[in-house]
Amino acid sequence: MAPTSSLLIRRARILLPNGEFLVGDVLICDRQIVKVAAEIALEGDREIDAIGLTLLPGVIDPQVHFREPGLEHKEDLFTASCACAKGGVTSFLEMPNTRPLTTTQAALDDKLRLAAEKCLVNYGFFIGATAEILPDLLSANPTPGIKVFMGSMHGQLLMDDEANLEAIFAKGDRLIAVHAEDQARINQRRQEFAGISDVAIHSQIQDNQAALLATQLALKLSQKYQRRLHILHLSTGEEAELLRQEKPSWVTAEVTPQHLLLNTSAYATIGSFAQMNPPLRSPRDNEILWQALLDGVIDFIATDHAPHTLAEKAQTYPNTPSGMPGVETSLPLMLTQAVEGRCTVAQVANWMSAAVAKAYKIPNKGKIAPGFDADLVLVDLDNYRPVLRSEMLTKCGWSPFEGWNLTGWPVVTVVGGKVVFDHGKLDTNVRGEALTFDAE
Ligand code: DOR
Repeated sequence: MAPTSSLLIRRARILLPNGEFLVGDVLICDRQIVKVAAEIALEGDREIDAIGLTLLPGVIDPQVHFREPGLEHKEDLFTASCACAKGGVTSFLEMPNTRPLTTTQAALDDKLRLAAEKCLVNYGFFIGATAEILPDLLSANPTPGIKVFMGSMHGQLLMDDEANLEAIFAKGDRLIAVHAEDQARINQRRQEFAGISDVAIHSQIQDNQAALLATQLALKLSQKYQRRLHILHLSTGEEAELLRQEKPSWVTAEVTPQHLLLNTSAYATIGSFAQMNPPLRSPRDNEILWQALLDGVIDFIATDHAPHTLAEKAQTYPNTPSGMPGVETSLPLMLTQAVEGRCTVAQVANWMSAAVAKAYKIPNKGKIAPGFDADLVLVDLDNYRPVLRSEMLTKCGWSPFEGWNLTGWPVVTVVGGKVVFDHGKLDTNVRGEALTFDAE
């Protein structure tokens, strides 16, 4: 079949799958990359002159909370996906704590339908585990896996009973992704610190030990049943060291930019904007997490984009909700670290795209090579600009990184061969596709 449209990206500094760069051209026909070469002697229906810019695989953000259906006053699939396009995020995996909860095939189908209508980028949705194992948990499709909230409360999604948790690990073989915090310890510490309204206490109530206890339990169950386990937003040095000692080949872990780059000192400057679950930790934890990421103990990066309104965040702790937005800033945050020498651009691209595609078995994504999907981002590594609240597209309209001077901002984002973001302008007619996941 003849292609219906072609896009040529010219003179870009292209990140190749082997981690090297080639200054050259990329030809895209319809949704796919068809050729990568120093020079392509063809004309595209549309051409982008990318001289001076770096071409990376589009970011796959494997943990976001986009709030639709049910909590659209915080965010919705349209606003969130606009923020993604601006941030170079071409695919996302979204969590089940929406209303209704995503615990059934019907709820999953509803999200997929809404996303097909509204999403400018590609999408996938986790199915949530409840104490009662619903029949759809093991058969729901398509989904990257089962999300388990071991702690920090999510109504019916809370799985803080070991027997219930074990029943989930014992049944089936699909990936289990855990939010690892020990609810019993959190409950006990909440009582000890009752009456304190300083938000900084959040990191002491939901402390390192609470995270470690839950991660230890998840690892134990995963080992017992040889069950594919993913540890979401690893936050403590203790958990990283534990994984360094014993990490079965079927276990993966992620870290957020905020757990790498922010710590408890942020409460003094940004107050409740620094409140999230699991909480921010110490500068020492930042260091250990960085080293674990560099050493491959931690596999990839997720934002845990979890927007709450300014009014919600203006309440008094503990009434302030936990969570912060992230999809608009994650790539420039990490690329700034690369430019400043903490890691390489190729490592960032691996952590934010290829490694995610591999872990979740998302076919044809994460690399710039013929046959791969044309989900791409052109970034400018030579231009620093501050994070500004006034430029945020997320509905919540704020960022914990406001004022940070970053480089590596996306200039052009391509989803499925279509230019969705171009020098500050969105094409809101572009639609992403449902992601697929190969079997375990
Ligand atoms: O800080 C958080 N906020 N952590 C979570 O796990 C959930 C999230 C939310 O949905 O607000």
